[in-house]
Amino acid sequence: MTANPDVLGPDEEVDAAWSSLAHHQYRHLPVVDEHELVGVVSLRDLMGVARLRPADEHGTEIPAGLEGVVAAETALGDVRGEEGFFHYRQYSAVELAARRSLEDVWYLLLEGELPDGRQARRFAAEVASLRSMPPGLAVMLPEVAQRGSPFEVLRTAVSLLGAELGWRPTHDIDGVELRAQTLRLCAVVPTIMAAAHNLGAGRPPVEPRAELSATANYLWMVTGSEPAPGHARAVEQYQILTIDHGFNASTFTARVITSTGADLAAAVCGAIGALSGPLHGGAPSRALAMLDEIGSAERAEPWLRAAVDRGDRVMGFGHRVYKTDDPRSLFLRDAARSLGGPLVDLAAQVERTAVDVLAEMKPGRRLFTNVEFYAGVVMYTCGIPRDMFTPTFAAGRTIGWTAHVIEQAAHNRLIRPSARYTGPPPPAPVPDPVPVPDGDRWPARR
Ligand SMILES: CC(C)(COP(=O)(O)OP(=O)(O)OC[C@H]1O[C@@H](n2cnc3c(N)ncnc32)[C@H](O)[C@@H]1OP(=O)(O)O)[C@@H](O)C(=O)NCCC(=O)NCCS
Repeated sequence: MTANPDVLGPDEEVDAAWSSLAHHQYRHLPVVDEHELVGVVSLRDLMGVARLRPADEHGTEIPAGLEGVVAAETALGDVRGEEGFFHYRQYSAVELAARRSLEDVWYLLLEGELPDGRQARRFAAEVASLRSMPPGLAVMLPEVAQRGSPFEVLRTAVSLLGAELGWRPTHDIDGVELRAQTLRLCAVVPTIMAAAHNLGAGRPPVEPRAELSATANYLWMVTGSEPAPGHARAVEQYQILTIDHGFNASTFTARVITSTGADLAAAVCGAIGALSGPLHGGAPSRALAMLDEIGSAERAEPWLRAAVDRGDRVMGFGHRVYKTDDPRSLFLRDAARSLGGPLVDLAAQVERTAVDVLAEMKPGRRLFTNVEFYAGVVMYTCGIPRDMFTPTFAAGRTIGWTAHVIEQAAHNRLIRPSARYTGPPPPAPVPDPVPVPDGDRWPARR
C-alpha cells in the first residue's frame, strides 16, 4: 500500500474533491477497512453505475430561480445583498445619487470614470440633442398610443425605432456604432413614454427641451409644466438609484438577447418585457394601490395579515438579493420625508407594521421594503401619474441595460445554458396518429 496516500478529509466540499481527483488524474479509489486495504474501485465503473458527472456539469442542484448563480462577468457594478450595499463601477451608488447628476452616472457607466466639468457639459449637451423622436415614429405613435399603456407602447415603439433607424445586429457593428445607438435610444425613450402618456389622455405630445436636465425634461414632457427643482432632483435620484442593479431579470434578458448577436432594439424590447412583470418593475404602482386600500394606520395590521394569509405578496417588500434593508429604500424613505405630505406618514407606519407582520408570518425569510415601496410615494408626491411609475423606472434603467448590451457585445459568447430533463424517460415509441372522423376536425385545415 502507498505510504502517505493523498486523502480527502470528511469536511471536503464535493467540488474540491472532484477537482483534486481530476487534477491528479486518479482512476481508482482505495477501499479501506480499519486501515487495511480491502479493495479498489474503478472510478470509471463507479461513474458508469452512478452516472456521476463533474460537479460543474450536471451533478449539482440547480437553485430555483437561479438564485446565487454567477452567469457572467461585469465591470459595471455589483450588489452585496447581505451588507445592503451596491455600487456602479467603483463608487457607492447611494453616494452617486446624493452627489451627482443622472447624466454623470450615465457617463460613468459608459466610460468607466466620472466626467470632469467639461466632459460633463459636453456629454449632457450631446444626449440632450438626441431627444426628439425620428419622424416615422412620431407619425405612427398617435395610433399606437391608443392601444395600450405608455409602457406597452414603449415596447412597440422601441421596435419601430430600431427599424426606422436601421439598427443592424450587434454582431455586425463595432463598438462605436453601438455606443451611438445606445445614446440615441436612451435619450429618446423618455420622449416616447411621455408622448404615449399624453396621447393616451387625448393631449398632444409635449416637445422636449434641450436646456433642461434629462429628468427635469422628462417631468416637463409628462406633466406639461416645469418641475420644482426639489421634485426634479428627487426623481433624478430615484433614477440614479435604479439605473443598474446586478443581474436582475431585465438586464439578464438584454444580455441573453445581445449574446445571440441581435440588434439593440431587440435586446431592449426583451428587457422592457421582463421589467413589466409585477415581481420586477411593475411593483411601485401596486405598492401605492396597497397604501390606498389600507387607507389609515389602524387598518394596516388586519389588512396585511389577511393578505399574507391569502398567500398574496405584499408589494414593495422582499428582494432576491437583499436580506437586510434595501439601501435604495432607505434613501428614498429619506427623500420622501424631505418632500413631506400625508402619504409619507402612512407609508412609514405601514412599513413598520408590514415588517413585523412578515417577520411573524414568514419567519426566517428576512423581508424588508425594497426600492419600489417608497418609489411610488416619491413619484406620486412629485406629480408623476401612476401609469408613468414603471416608465419612469425604465427611463433610467434603459441606460443600465444599454451599458450591459455594450459590455456583452464587446466580450460576447452565446449564452446557452442547459436544463435538467424531468419528463417521462425517452425514447418512448411514437404512436401513429389516431384517425379522426372528418366531421370532428377542428380547427379546419387550410
Ligand atoms: C422580489 C421577490 C420576487 C423576490 O422573491 P424571491 O427571492 O424569489 O423569494 P421567493 O418568491 O422564493 O419567496 C420566499 C418566501 O418569502 C415570501 N415572500 C417573499 N416576498 C414576499 C412578499 N413581498 N410578501 C409576502 N411574502 C413574501 C414568499 O411567499 C416565500 O414564502 P414561502 O417560503 O412560505 O413560500 C419577492 O420578494 C416579491 O414577490 N416581492 C413583492 C413584489 C415586489 O415588491 N417586487 C419588486 C422587487 S424590486
